[in-house]
Amino acid sequence: MPRPDRFTGRVGVVTGAASGLGRATAIGLAAEGARLVLFDRDAEGLAETAASCPGSVCVAGDVTAAADHARVLDAAAPLGPIALVATAAGILGPAAPLTDVAEADWDRLFAVNVKGTWLAIRAILPQMLAAGRGAIVTFASGAGLAGNPTMPAYSASKGAVVLLTRSLAVSHVTQGIRANCVCPGPIETPMLRDTFAQAGDAAAVAAREAAFRARNPMGRFGTVDEVAESVLFLLSDAASYITGVALPVDGGKLA
Ligand SMILES: NC(=O)c1ccc[n+]([C@@H]2O[C@H](COP(=O)([O-])OP(=O)(O)OC[C@H]3O[C@@H](n4cnc5c(N)ncnc54)[C@H](O)[C@@H]3O)[C@@H](O)[C@H]2O)c1
Repeated sequence: MPRPDRFTGRVGVVTGAASGLGRATAIGLAAEGARLVLFDRDAEGLAETAASCPGSVCVAGDVTAAADHARVLDAAAPLGPIALVATAAGILGPAAPLTDVAEADWDRLFAVNVKGTWLAIRAILPQMLAAGRGAIVTFASGAGLAGNPTMPAYSASKGAVVLLTRSLAVSHVTQGIRANCVCPGPIETPMLRDTFAQAGDAAAVAAREAAFRARNPMGRFGTVDEVAESVLFLLSDAASYITGVALPVDGGKLA
């Protein structure tokens, strides 16, 4: 249930806001009063999200480009100092054994998932430090907490996001900054469908989906709203004593 006004007066940036978890996070924040800059490479998807986020502005760009993060700062300037960041932009990359991963695919994966997260934080953190206040939630994965045989390169990139976030937390804990990450298990989004699609023909796709479902103690995939609820909690003042946490939102998969 939205709590009107939980984020009223706060300005936030959500990357990956055109789809899935970023979109649900943006819609949740906006419903509770935040004014947002929505950032994604998918301009059409951004416009759809913005329709449910009153007062938001869109920036279409690439999280791997520092210049595009500068455009996010420009777009946020009329709204006020940025107090909230959620970095949901990410890609799956090849769901293949490490020996089959092409160098270009590895570089792109780390550029989007790791460098893209770092660039967003590098751009925005100075404003938060100047204000002495800021809450950051990055998007890692259950695959960033435990090795993953289906998508090992993705797993490595998300492990980097976990420690980027924890390092951020301990670096700025006395300066009013909190940084946490969510580590979703399989959540019903286009990315999850891509994970299955990479298995091959229809039978292999169905088998991979069934295996993912069977490995989850709850026997189901999560919803985007179940993750967004956790992100909103970590961004809110209710989490004022929580920083450096990597929170599984996974139906008990890593329990
Ligand atoms: N869905 C899951 O099961 C799951 C599980 C664990 C972690 N995650 C993580 O959660 C985050 C969101 O995933 P999702 O499932 O919503 O995926 P999604 O594919 O639905 O959305 C990802 C969004 O990121 C955007 N994006 C990708 N590359 C970009 C770039 N270079 N610049 C700007 N935007 C870019 C895409 O356009 C898309 O809108 C990702 O970081 C993902 O790794 C997802």
